Amino acid sequence: MNIAIDGPAGAGKSTIARIVAKKEGSIYVDTGAMYRAMALYFMENKISPDDQKALEEALAEVDISISYRDGVQHILLNGEDVTDRLREETVGNMASATSVNAKVREKLVALQQKLAKTASVVMDGRDIGTVVLPDAEVKIYLTASAHTRAVRRYEELKNKPDASNLPSVEQIEADIKDRDYRDMHREHSPLKKADDAVEVDSSDLTIEEVVERILEISASKKAN
Ligand code: DC
Repeated sequence: MNIAIDGPAGAGKSTIARIVAKKEGSIYVDTGAMYRAMALYFMENKISPDDQKALEEALAEVDISISYRDGVQHILLNGEDVTDRLREETVGNMASATSVNAKVREKLVALQQKLAKTASVVMDGRDIGTVVLPDAEVKIYLTASAHTRAVRRYEELKNKPDASNLPSVEQIEADIKDRDYRDMHREHSPLKKADDAVEVDSSDLTIEEVVERILEISASKKAN
C-alpha cells in the first residue's frame, strides 16, 4: 500500500510523511531531496538553470541513489552522501528552477517508481499523486497558508547554530510565494491536487493532528 503526499514547500510534508511511514511500517521517500541533490550537482558544476541544453547534457554524469540507515533516507550523489547539504534555501531554489526540465523529471520519476515497486512507501513531493504513483491507495494534498509556512521556516532557521543571516518572515514569505508560483505553473507535472486526493490544511493543526487524520484515511482505505 502506497501513500502519496503532495503540497507546496513548507507545508510540513516531510515531517508528517516520516512519522506516517514509521507508523505504517513503510519506507519514507523524500523526492524533494532527489531534486535538491540534482540541483547541488548543477550548482557545483556551475550549470545555469536557464541553460536547458547544458542541464540535459549533464544528466548523463549524474547518478542519484538512495540508501537507508536506521530507517533514515540518505541521498548519494555520484556515490557521495550529500544528505546534510540539501536543506539550504539556495539549493531549494535551484531545485525549484531546474525541476521544470522534463528530462530532469524523467530521470528522477523513474527512480521513484522503481523504489515504490520494491516496498510500501510513503512518498512526498509535488507530482506523486498525479504522475509518479497515480494508483496510490491514499493521496493527500497537504497545504498551509504562505504566512504560516514562512513563520514555521523562520522558527526553524532561528534555532539553527548559525542564525546570523536570518532573513525576515516577510522575505521568507516572498520566497515561498515565488517558489509556489513556479512549482504550480510549470509546464511539466505542475504541483496540483490530484482529483482523488484529500486536501488537508495544516495551518491550524498540530503535527499529531495531521498524522492522525492521514492514518484515519489510510485505515478506512484498508477497511474497504
Ligand atoms: O520539497 P522540497 O522543498 O524539498 O522540493 C524542492 C524543489 O524540488 C521544489 O521546489 C520543486 C521540486 N520538486 C518537484 O518538482 N517534484 C517533486 N516530486 C519534489 C520536488
